[in-house]
Amino acid sequence: MSNVEFRRFDTPEAVSVAVASHVLDMVRRQPAATLGLATGKTFVPIYAELVRQVGAQGISFATATSFNLDEYVGLERDHPASFRAYMVEHLFRHIDMPAEQGRLPDVEGDLNAACERFEAAIAAQGGIDLQLLGIGQNGHIGFNEPGSAFDSRTRVVELAQSTIDANTSDFPDGQTPPTQAVTMGIGTILEAREIVLVAIGANKANALHEAFCKPASTACPASALNSHPKVTVFCDAAAAKMLPAEGPAHT
Ligand code: GLP
Repeated sequence: MSNVEFRRFDTPEAVSVAVASHVLDMVRRQPAATLGLATGKTFVPIYAELVRQVGAQGISFATATSFNLDEYVGLERDHPASFRAYMVEHLFRHIDMPAEQGRLPDVEGDLNAACERFEAAIAAQGGIDLQLLGIGQNGHIGFNEPGSAFDSRTRVVELAQSTIDANTSDFPDGQTPPTQAVTMGIGTILEAREIVLVAIGANKANALHEAFCKPASTACPASALNSHPKVTVFCDAAAAKMLPAEGPAHT
């Protein structure tokens, strides 16, 4: 039976406040927490709210560590649409976490060796305490596209055309995303002690329905989360519109 808990909010703004507060509660309780971080449009206002709360409450990330889910392969270093650039822009430059404690998958040199190093670094850190996830319209988590094995590990993947299309607006005019990325695997993600998945907007409603209202299947990568003991889905009313009204939902 799935233990997934749903927290529904009327507005995207309310989701951002709740998710930011949830993350900061962990950092306050456990200053040396290891966070799994996500990118994407969903997380832009969440990081903005987190930075606002960090400033207002004086919270330190000096002893925290983070591992990002994924990174494109083949962008030149410092490309503005790389996930590293995103993290620096939206979070890292605003908090006091030392740069070397904010890791993203390495996408240069021998990629298979880099993937193994990334997994080893997570393990050496004692695993991830709280993993943040968005969800793709096709149900992907990280860059684990439909068909990804539920026990997959950090690896090089080919992106679905729908993912490339969805992310093209993040790139300067005339540029499209690379076709490859490195992503934590679904098995890697499932080892996090706690997972928070965030879905905003009507274009995520079907993905939530496929993930949490149907039997788990590799056709919908996020459905793997049903087997995890501690998953909370934070969503707005638009994203929740295909979830059963009487479901285990509360704010
Ligand atoms: C991207 C990322 C995912 C993200 C998802 C949704 O491609 N690799 O980690 O969660 O797709 O993105 P958005 O929040 O922009 O809808």
